[in-house]
Amino acid sequence: MINEDIPNLSAFDDESLDKAFAALATQANDDAAALDGPEAVEAFRLEWLGRKQGRLNEVSSRWLKAAPPEAKKPVGERFKTLKELVERLLDQASSAGPTDAALAAEAIDVTLPGTRRLMGAEHPITRTLNELTQIFAALGYSVGVGPEVETDFYNFESMNFPPGHPARDTQDTLVIANQERRPLRDRLLLRTHTSPVQMRTMESQPPPVRIIIPGKVHRNDAADATHSPIFHQVEGLCVDTNITFSDLKGTLDHAMKALFGSSVKTRFFPSFFPFTEPSADVQISCIFCGGKGCRKCKQSGWIELLGCGMVDPAVFAFAAEKQPAYDPKKISGFAFGMGVERIAMMKYGISEIGQFYAGDMRFLGQFV
Ligand code: PHE
Repeated sequence: MINEDIPNLSAFDDESLDKAFAALATQANDDAAALDGPEAVEAFRLEWLGRKQGRLNEVSSRWLKAAPPEAKKPVGERFKTLKELVERLLDQASSAGPTDAALAAEAIDVTLPGTRRLMGAEHPITRTLNELTQIFAALGYSVGVGPEVETDFYNFESMNFPPGHPARDTQDTLVIANQERRPLRDRLLLRTHTSPVQMRTMESQPPPVRIIIPGKVHRNDAADATHSPIFHQVEGLCVDTNITFSDLKGTLDHAMKALFGSSVKTRFFPSFFPFTEPSADVQISCIFCGGKGCRKCKQSGWIELLGCGMVDPAVFAFAAEKQPAYDPKKISGFAFGMGVERIAMMKYGISEIGQFYAGDMRFLGQFV
């Protein structure tokens, strides 16, 4: 215990006091000389100046308070000098730089390799979405977005899927719970395609329209190597006077060449979508075999990639309820929609769609 270091004084004459205080001063000087770092300095401070058990506190209670009245002054003067000494020693120790030993312990080996920071990278889906939007931005298209939780009206009815129509069965829908009391057109669902943003765009602006809509869509489909209940689409809509099917063909042929390389060919097959008439499926010449026929294209030389068509007059009629300029007698347009995962899988040679969502750094690290 520290307080045992300070014995009671038996004599209070000048000589005895000088001796007792000199011993403590020597001790303080010796202690201070041995200080070798901030921790030792703090320990020194506590040992000498600590409020409860510090040596000076003990000296004050054992020597100063216990002194007979005539000795108070000489003890007090010597106590003051000792305290000043300790404070000065402490000041010097705290402002002194670190000792050689402390410096050696902190030395930095500049030959060690640095800490590597991982570079972030665009996810392959984001990258494909951006690439597609840029291709169409260069053709004068602007980017549009809409809600993922959509109403039955925008997702289906306004896109010419009437209530109960069998075409609704082609997009198995995830609906929001407890909507039965609302009229059908107001009920909420997870959008099954980006096409409802066609209608939202036309309602908000008169023609001409050139818009590209990247976004996430949801369908109640079982997941397998090429299907996921959540995936991405890029939608396009172009409305103006005298837009023809050849404009559609030229636009998509250019886009596929920009995306996959200028040697890629396109062909258009008759198809059906409720919101386009006529409708077509677009195939591109197989990017793996150049059209000769391989396992990837099932020996056909062609790969089906997207849906498109001329905007159905019934869709314009819905838009005209809010924007009368969408008069199918005066304007025309085309629309197209494509699956982003499918395009990214072809471009980057990915065989499992689940890889996009697994967050596995070994997969994602390949896109840095
Ligand atoms: N919305 C359609 C789908 O998800 C794709 C499409 C968009 C077809 C635009 C034609 C025009 O299957």
